[in-house]
Amino acid sequence: MEFSKNQLLLFFAFTVLVLSQVSGATRDNDKDQLKTHIVLVHDTINHVMPATSDHKIYNITNKVKHKLQHLSDLYVSLLSAVIPDRSRFIYTYKSVINGFAAQLTTQELEELSKQEWFAGALPPKKYKITTTHTPAFLGLRPPSIDPQGAWNTTNLGEGIIIGVIDTGITPDHPSFRDDHLPAPPTKWRGHCDFGPSLCNNKLIGARRVLNATQGEHIHYPPTDKHGHGTHVASTAAGAFVKGSGAYSSAVGMASGMAPRAHLAIYQVCNENGYCDGADVLKAIEYAVDDGVDVLSLSLGLSEDSDGHHVYEDHIAVGALKATLNGLVVSCAAGNDGPGFGTLNNDIPWILTVGASTTDRRELVVVELGDGTKFDGKALLQPKNWAKGMFPLTHLGVKEFNGYTNLRQCTGKMDRRKVSGKILLCPFDGEDPIQKAQNMRAAGVHGVIFVLFLSSLGLDDVSVEYDFPYAEVLLTDGTKILNYINSSKNATATFSFRGTVLNKPHSPSLAAFSSRGPSLPFPGILKPDIVGPGSSILGAVPPTYIDRTNRKSLLFDFMSGTSMATPHLSGIAALIKKAHPKWSPAAIKSAIMTTARIVDNNGELITDSSPIPGPADLNGIGAGQVDPTRAIDPGLVYDIKGNEYISLICGMGLTDSQIGIFISPSPPVACSKVAKISQEQLNYPSITISLKPNSTVVVTRTVTNVGIAASTYIAKINVPKGISAIVKPAVLRFNAKYEKISYTVTFKWTGVVIYPLRGQLVWLSRKNVVRSPISLVLLN
Ligand SMILES: *[C@@H]1O[C@H](CO)[C@@H](O)[C@H](O)[C@H]1NC(C)=O
Ligand SMILES: *[C@@H]1O[C@H](CO)[C@@H](O)[C@H](O)[C@H]1NC(C)=O
Ligand SMILES: *[C@@H]1O[C@H](CO)[C@@H](O)[C@H](O)[C@H]1NC(C)=O
Ligand SMILES: *[C@@H]1O[C@H](CO)[C@@H](O)[C@H](O)[C@H]1NC(C)=O
Ligand SMILES: *[C@@H]1O[C@H](CO)[C@@H](O)[C@H](O)[C@H]1NC(C)=O
Ligand SMILES: *[C@@H]1O[C@H](CO)[C@@H](O)[C@H](O)[C@H]1NC(C)=O
Repeated sequence: MEFSKNQLLLFFAFTVLVLSQVSGATRDNDKDQLKTHIVLVHDTINHVMPATSDHKIYNITNKVKHKLQHLSDLYVSLLSAVIPDRSRFIYTYKSVINGFAAQLTTQELEELSKQEWFAGALPPKKYKITTTHTPAFLGLRPPSIDPQGAWNTTNLGEGIIIGVIDTGITPDHPSFRDDHLPAPPTKWRGHCDFGPSLCNNKLIGARRVLNATQGEHIHYPPTDKHGHGTHVASTAAGAFVKGSGAYSSAVGMASGMAPRAHLAIYQVCNENGYCDGADVLKAIEYAVDDGVDVLSLSLGLSEDSDGHHVYEDHIAVGALKATLNGLVVSCAAGNDGPGFGTLNNDIPWILTVGASTTDRRELVVVELGDGTKFDGKALLQPKNWAKGMFPLTHLGVKEFNGYTNLRQCTGKMDRRKVSGKILLCPFDGEDPIQKAQNMRAAGVHGVIFVLFLSSLGLDDVSVEYDFPYAEVLLTDGTKILNYINSSKNATATFSFRGTVLNKPHSPSLAAFSSRGPSLPFPGILKPDIVGPGSSILGAVPPTYIDRTNRKSLLFDFMSGTSMATPHLSGIAALIKKAHPKWSPAAIKSAIMTTARIVDNNGELITDSSPIPGPADLNGIGAGQVDPTRAIDPGLVYDIKGNEYISLICGMGLTDSQIGIFISPSPPVACSKVAKISQEQLNYPSITISLKPNSTVVVTRTVTNVGIAASTYIAKINVPKGISAIVKPAVLRFNAKYEKISYTVTFKWTGVVIYPLRGQLVWLSRKNVVRSPISLVLLN
């Protein structure tokens, strides 16, 4: 895309994309500041033993459990021997780590570290929170219409428990009714803080886990004061609700991905969307102990966190224990795209979820006096807008470094200059309510908001202005500005088209979706998968008001990888229901190897930005989830728990750092463990680094989960200049669950034609098992 001198270059923080923006907690380096640390305690009962059979060692339900009260008393006494103030003690952990959370200064932590029982500490961490139409868009249709689909008469997620760790829930919302739902399975051991009047067979559990969050001890029970948790839970497992929609947009039947699954809610974030790591880790522990099957975390690390190593990340540590206990953990990739290396939750045992756009748009066509038309977007569309051509103007331009910036449309406006006109303004997503009021007061007839980056697409922003408006691309805004400048009597009009489906080139990768490569795991392609995350309609608390009629909304739009994550959690629940014995890695593999890589035009999925070309593998991972195919993947790449331990050992951490990862299981001596490098982990995608003329061999093992007697043939594509040989190139299976290993030998042989991407596909008569190949060339 060419940058002209008239190009509007308007730089704002990307934060408008995170609907739940909050004023950050203050960063504090004061040594005397009290912060929540997690203190690890040596497990004196167990002894060092090598990781042999993961189930024997790591299955915590097998482990003789300490009586919790007894353990708390022990930890309180350990702490109070050093710090007499008992109120500093917050939580006891027993399943995800051995230890406790407490409010400590760094000096006090130093004192504790001198104690014999001290095994280490996790530094303070803060996290933050990062639909009617999406089920049909993903190919999920009611069994009456599509009996062969992922949704069928026996599988809408029945009996599967999805745990949502977020801002709480709106328990009496119609999305959480339990019409004809069976009671939860007997393994369920959770609790409902709302009591039996509000919990039911859909909402089977709700816990407030906010003891580490200061000043948050008033809201009881875990009612959602923010809206994010309610939205996310409804996307994962909301029941069918007729006539949903917001502001008369996207009206239809709303439901989550697994409409008959159970929900267990853990409230860990305050009403501003901030969450303490100690609460998050405690919630993961509750979920493991309660009997949850799939965990959904639409949270990412906040800037004001200490410690940057993987083993210091509470989600990474908690998710490992959850995975070893058979839970699928689905987490948001983050909203810090489109820059590379901006990922969150990029851990091999987590399903890392990026965001894509849907094929739905709330369309408004902008027409200029000279007949030129542009497609724009407006989530809120007025019903009685006076039609016809209106004068078109802006509030002035500023020259900055040779670029033209439009003046902001903030504050009070001069009525004489703007009344009855359409205004061209820069988009900033801030203060939509105040802006609408100012425009109305000044008699403005309509507003065109110009996106501020050429990499931003219309589906990347979703701000609701209760005022006639149209968001347009930067390139189109530039043309409109040139038109105003070159005509004496510039005019324009809007044509509001409402919700339009089947938008071309859908899905696309949302610009805000965080990109790889993963910094701690550069040998593993991340994110793993993308799912719908742009302008997603979901359940909201009654505090969300329709500004056009002052009534409470049942559903509203939100955007973010936060919205994509529960789509995947719900789909994981459908797979779990269809295949109860599958491991978390097998379920992840099924989702990844069956993902779609082409859009509805039959071309490779692009970036949502107007810049053409396929989306980078570091943004899209294996592609867009396809639930119907994921239920029946043919082959899976399985990973056993002890392979993750071997992987961690291969990262060169010390035994004590690894102890943090695997406690409360007995410590592992890495010297006695066979190490696995990142590229050799039995992952469903392949990432390798090549040097000129050097050879890299990767080994993978597939398990046949399809037809017993089946034959698969390899098809591999790599860029020109690289050779790749698969051995054996044909896999013949005779039994279900039979495993066969193969190798791929890569060699950089000549001048390479970019882009550096490829794929390995195993083809049978019935299944297509695809692994993306990401290549890095080292000189
Ligand atoms: C959280 O704090 C409340 C009030 O002090 C207490 O009753 C509860 O037991 C605490 N929760 C945990 C898990 O320790
Ligand atoms: C853990 O152990 C329990 C009790 O023996 C068993 O029922 C369960 O299936 C085991 N879980 C896993 C993931 O192996
Ligand atoms: C408007 O046009 C004039 C010449 O016609 C040009 O000098 C000026 O830079 C233009 N201004 C903008 C904001 O494009
Ligand atoms: C400007 O354009 C409008 C609509 O096209 C027209 O009604 C009006 O007469 C024009 N005014 C001038 C001064 O040309
Ligand atoms: C529904 O799908 C499951 C797999 O998810 C399959 O086992 C079952 O036979 C299907 N039922 C019908 C009625 O098609
Ligand atoms: C590989 O080796 C050959 C022969 O030694 C040499 O001609 C070629 O340039 C090398 N390739 C690369 C990519 O360095």
